[in-house]
Parts: sequence; C-alpha cells; structure tokens
Amino acid sequence: MKTNIFTSAILVVAISFQGVFAQKPRVTVLATGGTIAGAGTQSTSSAYQAAQLPIDNLLNAVPEIHNIATLKGEQISQVGSQDMSIDIWLKLAKRIQELFDQNLTDAVVITHGTDTQEETAYFLNLVLKTAKPVILVGAMRSSTAISADGPRNLFNAVTVAVDTASMGKGVLVVMNDKIISARDVTKTHTTAVETFKGGGFGPVGCVEDGQVFFNYDITKKHTSATAFDIRKINALPKVEIVYGYADASPIAIQALMKNKVAGIIVAGVGNGNFNKALGEQIKLATKAGVSVVRASRVGSGRVSLNVEVNDTEFGTLVSEDLNPQKARILLMLGLSQNMSREDLQKLFFTY
Ligand code: SIN
Repeated sequence: MKTNIFTSAILVVAISFQGVFAQKPRVTVLATGGTIAGAGTQSTSSAYQAAQLPIDNLLNAVPEIHNIATLKGEQISQVGSQDMSIDIWLKLAKRIQELFDQNLTDAVVITHGTDTQEETAYFLNLVLKTAKPVILVGAMRSSTAISADGPRNLFNAVTVAVDTASMGKGVLVVMNDKIISARDVTKTHTTAVETFKGGGFGPVGCVEDGQVFFNYDITKKHTSATAFDIRKINALPKVEIVYGYADASPIAIQALMKNKVAGIIVAGVGNGNFNKALGEQIKLATKAGVSVVRASRVGSGRVSLNVEVNDTEFGTLVSEDLNPQKARILLMLGLSQNMSREDLQKLFFTY
C-alpha cells in the first residue's frame, strides 16, 4: 500500500514536471492576407473579400494548433495576393531571416493568398539561409464559407512546421493535405480546393490525421545552398513576362525595351517557341543587353537549349522546367548579382 502511494506520488510529480517543462516548438505565423483571411456575407456564395481577418482571428479559429505549438502571430501585410509585391517579399523574407538569426522561433508559417503563393514560396526558397521549416498555407474558400478549408490547412501547416522531418527540405506549401516543394508547386485550378500540384513531380509528402509523411526530397538547390542571401538583397531589377500565342506581335517587347527592363521571360508556345516577329525583336533585345529567357506557357516539361530554337543565334537562355512566373524570380535574383550569360543559364539548371 505504502509503495502504491509512493509510486503514485512520483507519477504525479513526473507528470507535473512534464507539463511545466516540456517545451512545445515555437512557431511564428506571419500573415500576409488572402482568402484564408477572407470573409463574405453569405456562407453559400463564393463572393467574398480577401484579406479581412487579422492574424489573431485566424489563430483563435483553430484551437487545435495551440496544443502542438507555442504560437505567435505577426501581420506582415493584409493584401489579396494579386497585390503581392517585391517590397512585401523583401519585408517578409528579412523578417523570417531575423527570427531565425536571433533564435526567436523554431519554424515559420506564412498565411498567403493562393494566386501568387507559388511565387512567394519560390522567392523565399532561394533567399533564406536556414534549415528550419518555412511553410506557406492558404485557402480556396473564405473563412465564412461552408466547408472553409483554411482551418484544416492551417492545422496541417503547423503540424508540418513542428515536425523535425521538415528540417532542411526548403520552403514547403501545405494545401489540401498535400506537402509540395516551393520549386515545383503551382496553382492549376481557378476555384477548386484541389488546385495545388507539384508540376511534373507531385507532392513531396502529405499530412494525414495529424501525422506527416514525406515521400522524397527535391534535388534542386534551395535555402542555405543557394547563392542568394536576403540579408544582402534590398532591391531587384525589373524583369517582365511576355506571353506567346498565334500571330503574336512584337509590340510588348518593344514597349518593355523602351521602359528599360533588365530582363524578359518569354512564356513561349510549346517548347518555349516564338514566331518570326517576336524572334526579330528578341534578337534586338539581347543585342541591347536585355536578358531573355525562354519558358513555356504549356505548364509542364522542360524547355530545351539549342534544340528547336537556336539560342546561340538569338542570345536567349532557357528556364529548364521553371514556369514563367518562377523563371522571372530566378532571373531577377541572378541579375541582381551581375552574373554573366553563362552563369545565368547555369542558375536555371541548378535551382
Ligand atoms: C488571393 O490570392 O489573395 C485571393 C485568392 C486566394 O487566396 O485563394
């Protein structure tokens, strides 16, 4: 009997100690706006306004995340992600780097509109110097809609953020139970909840019932292994995108040259192709020192160097399998380091 009381007492003390001293991982949630913070007047309508709810409302709406992490929220911006800008990217990335450099957090979750989420994710993937988890999350349905997906996505994002298996994987996007690498992720449907895909490669993992499963690692360089460091970047050169289509005119490229852009991404047809009119203008652009990268409007597959198009003759580079909007980010970063044409091309094979 004595032994039983003694044993129980030890157990009680041990449990109390566990409660007091077991540290939950610290997760900082940086909010930027988007549908996850959106609200409408009718739960059955898809009409709503993005970027309405402040970060604390988002965190309080999902009590379960407070069981697995010590959370701190910060509002970085409050925009629909169609208004995401380079200024916000710089502010966001510098804040994340500061949080890690000063050991103020163990992981970062970013709430973000889905329209340009893939671009922010890829930018962060290239400029942050950390192995700690950085997760982007959003929602396709506003907080007031029936079957809003934001709370579940946020729970899953925090679950991935606190899992040590997420260390060193680069920036990840967690949407609709899937984990997709920042390099591969792309939005493929205008309104469906199942919209984010991993390009030609699929998700790197998934979240099921609060458990994280990783299937593979990406081999392209990211975060600590890249040549770019947000602590040294304060501006990016101007790079714009020109879309390819039947009978495209050179007007857009002429206008961009007049506006002194440093680079142009051509979202070409098929294997990054363009017609004769665009080709003549592209030659003039590259001769004038503008970097022109051929990507494709197709949505998957590689753009091949010197196969259908003679890149040496046109002075063009290829984006490999980066989509045009991600190729733009890599070119801006490359140009910010004054890289040679050869080194710029190497970037597209490396990142
Ligand atoms: C946005 O990108 O901010 C609006 C759409 C969304 O978040 O799903």
